Amino acid sequence: MAYRRIEVDPLTPAIGAEIQGVDLSRPLDDQTYGEIHEAWMKHLVIFFRDQDLTLDQHKAFGRRFGALHIHPAAPGPEGHPEIFVVHTDKDSTFSEGNGWHSDVSCDAEPPMGSILRLHTLPATGGDTLFCNTYLVYDNLSASMKTHLEGLTAIHEGEQIFRGRYAEEGVDDSGKNYPRAEHPLIRTHPVTGRKCVYVNQAFTTGIKELRYTEARSVLDYLFEQVERPKYQCRFRWRKHSIAMWDNRCAQHYAMWDYRPHTRSGFRVTVKGDKPQ
Ligand code: SIN
Repeated sequence: MAYRRIEVDPLTPAIGAEIQGVDLSRPLDDQTYGEIHEAWMKHLVIFFRDQDLTLDQHKAFGRRFGALHIHPAAPGPEGHPEIFVVHTDKDSTFSEGNGWHSDVSCDAEPPMGSILRLHTLPATGGDTLFCNTYLVYDNLSASMKTHLEGLTAIHEGEQIFRGRYAEEGVDDSGKNYPRAEHPLIRTHPVTGRKCVYVNQAFTTGIKELRYTEARSVLDYLFEQVERPKYQCRFRWRKHSIAMWDNRCAQHYAMWDYRPHTRSGFRVTVKGDKPQ
C-alpha cells in the first residue's frame, strides 16, 4: 500500500516504525485510520511523537481500533477505568513491564493492542524494547514447529498481580486472577501469519508436557525472544506514543533510571481468543 496521509519510517528490518503526519487528538478519517492500521500490522509496533492527548482523546483513539480493555488488577484514574497507569519513581518497588511479556496474556481473550503515551521521562534510560514473535516462529526448524503446534500453554496472572497494587488501596484477598490456556503457536487473525505465543511474565507451563520438559521448552523460546535480531529499542520523548500488537509482539520496559521518574498512561484494546 502506498501511504498518502502518513509517512512511515521503519526502525529495524524486524520490527517498529515511526509514523509522521497525523494529529491523534483529532478524529481519524477512514483513509488515515486505514493507513495507520496497515502500518501497524506490517511493523507490529508503531510510534508517534508530540501527541499531547487528554485521557478522553487517548481513549477515543484506542476505540477506533476496538473496544477498550479493563485491567484485571490495576486501578485506573478516577472516572477512567480503561486507563492503565504506568508510573515508576525513586520509591517504586516494581516497574510495570520490566520483563519480556505480552499484555495480560492470562485473559481468556487477551488484549490485541496497547497504546502507551509517556508524559514524564528520565533524561536518559527508560527505553522500551520490542520483539517480533513471527520471526521467532519463522526461524524454528520444521520439526520443532510441528512439535510446538500441538501444544497448549498455560498463562496465569496470580504470580504477577497478587498484592501488586496494595499501596494504591487494592485489597485483592478473595479475588481470583485470570488463568487461561492458549495454543503455544497462534495464527494472527489479520495477517494469517503464525507466531510464538508464550512469555516470561505470564506463561507458567505447557499442558501436554511434564514440568521439567515444559521448563526446557519455555526457556528455549524465551531465549529466542531475547535475541536482538528480532527486536527494536524505542527511545521515548515527552508525549511520544507507542502502539503495539500483543498478538505477535512482546515488549520489555527497561528500568535503568532509578531514582528518576517515568510516567504515562496506556489504553488497551480488547482482543479475541487465540487460535
Ligand atoms: C507496559 O508493559 O505496558 C509498560 C511498557 C512501558 O512502560 O514501556
